[in-house]
Amino acid sequence: MSELNNKIIIVTGAASGIGAATALEVLAAGGKLAASDINWIPGSHILNSLESSPKAIRLDHDVSQTTAWNRVIDSTLATFGRIDGLVNNAGRAIAKPLEETSFEQWQTMADVNVKGVFLGCRAVHPAMLKQGGGAIVNVVSAAGIQYFPNMAAYSATKSGCASFTRAAMIDFAKDNIRVNGVMPGTVKTGMTTDLLDLPEFVESVINKHALKRAAEPAEIANVIVFLLSDEASYVNGINMPVDGGLTIT
Ligand SMILES: NC(=O)c1ccc[n+]([C@@H]2O[C@H](COP(=O)([O-])OP(=O)(O)OC[C@H]3O[C@@H](n4cnc5c(N)ncnc54)[C@H](O)[C@@H]3O)[C@@H](O)[C@H]2O)c1
Repeated sequence: MSELNNKIIIVTGAASGIGAATALEVLAAGGKLAASDINWIPGSHILNSLESSPKAIRLDHDVSQTTAWNRVIDSTLATFGRIDGLVNNAGRAIAKPLEETSFEQWQTMADVNVKGVFLGCRAVHPAMLKQGGGAIVNVVSAAGIQYFPNMAAYSATKSGCASFTRAAMIDFAKDNIRVNGVMPGTVKTGMTTDLLDLPEFVESVINKHALKRAAEPAEIANVIVFLLSDEASYVNGINMPVDGGLTIT
């Protein structure tokens, strides 16, 4: 397992799925955690785990709001004194044929999947600059480079996020802040629960993954934690596929 050695990590969208798995993995790797989400579910396993950990704080946070980012940065610095890593994981996916996708749905996905990532990178920059560096991991998607029915708006936001990740790397490298992305294939989370029950989805999407299965959230979290760690000190500006072979089939 990659080691985080008391690094202070912010994880957005930490209340479920990949974000929750990443939050737990950060703690297991010896990191300290500011876990944020717009929708914490009372009594959930992740909420209980965070509230019982002396190394974690939990924050209410809409990643599409600048002022909400200011509060997250202030709370993290007030609690832990520094920010070593940011995982821009919060995301929205609304699967619909393009002709049935409303502008509001487009905007919702763009606000979280692109604007939220931009705001997050900008928000952590001053603290990381001051302390001499840091690492950012954006959770992109294989759908940013490979295309499926009903996903045009989502794919556009994830392509934007993938491009942003690589371009942000160029601006931040001079400050010793690494910026990378992960591109998961299909992962068993709330985002895909309904889809994974549909035989046509299994046939048309899952069977396109060379491994012929969806990932567990921890299989993505492991890679995110590696990219945050010093073991990845020379990995910069990549969007790493973590997709069971989806994007080369
Ligand atoms: N599940 C998959 O198959 C898959 C594949 C590729 C990429 N992804 C990406 O992984 C990331 C995590 O998704 P997941 O699959 O764990 O889904 P999920 O729905 O389980 O988790 C997403 C989390 O983001 C939070 N969120 C949504 N809008 C927010 C906002 N405005 N501010 C703060 N938090 C917000 C939700 O409350 C939720 O807890 C997303 O960026 C998603 O696009 C998922």
